[in-house]
Amino acid sequence: MELKQAIEKRTSVRTYKQEPVPLEDLKEMVRLASLAPSVANFQPWNFIIITNRNLLRDMARKVTRHLEDIPANESRAASNVKSQVEWFATFFQDAPALIAVTMEDYESVLEKGVVLDHDEINRQRNYPDIQSAGACIQNILLAAVDMNYGACWLSAPMMVKETLEEMLQLDEKFGLMAFVAIGKPEKVPVKKPARSVDEIIRIIE
Ligand SMILES: Cc1cc2nc3c(=O)[nH]c(=O)nc-3n(C[C@H](O)[C@H](O)[C@H](O)COP(=O)(O)O)c2cc1C
Repeated sequence: MELKQAIEKRTSVRTYKQEPVPLEDLKEMVRLASLAPSVANFQPWNFIIITNRNLLRDMARKVTRHLEDIPANESRAASNVKSQVEWFATFFQDAPALIAVTMEDYESVLEKGVVLDHDEINRQRNYPDIQSAGACIQNILLAAVDMNYGACWLSAPMMVKETLEEMLQLDEKFGLMAFVAIGKPEKVPVKKPARSVDEIIRIIE
C-alpha cells in the first residue's frame, strides 16, 4: 500500500473480530515503530504486547473503578459523559492485542555539561520524550493499516498509570506512555472529515 493511501485510510478502529493477531504481525508493527525518529536518537521506547484476556480485563476493571470514584458534577450530561468515557477507556479489553508503549528518560547532550537536571531540560525542550512516543505510535497505526488491521491509540487508561505499570511489571526506569489496541476490524467507522489545508496553515514568506 502506498504511504499516502495508508495515511488517508487510517481511522480509529475500536471494535474487532475475535481472531488472534499473529505474533509475527505484532512484532512487525513494533519493528516499524522503532524506525521512528527520536530525541537524540535515544530510541527511548520499549513495547509490551499483551494478548492475555484475563490481564486485559483486570486492567480495564481498574480503569472503570477509577472512573466510578471520580465525583460527577451537577450537569445533566454527567452520567452520559462518564459511561461514554468509560467505554473509550476500556474497550481495549476486547481487542485481540494491545501494545503498551513505554519510554525511558533519554540522556540529552546538554545534561552532561550544564547544571540543569533532566526534567528541567525536558520541559525547556518541550517534552521531546512525549514527541518521540507520538512518532513511534503513529508508525504502529500506519503499519496496522498497511497490514489490514484496525487500531486505536489510547491515552485514557493512563488515568491509572501507576496501577497499570505495576500490573505490567514495568522495569522502574520505564514509564507507560500510551496503548494501541489492534485487531481485524469488526466495523470500520466512516473516516472523519479533516479540516481543510487552507484553514490550518499560515504562510510566512
Ligand atoms: C494522544 C491520543 C490519545 C487518544 N486516546 C484515546 C482513548 O483513550 N480512547 C479512544 O477511544 N481513542 C483515543 N484516541 C483516538 C482519537 O479519539 C481519534 O484519533 C480521534 O477521534 C480522530 O479520529 P480518527 O483517529 O478516526 O481520525 C486518541 C488519540 C490520540 C492522538
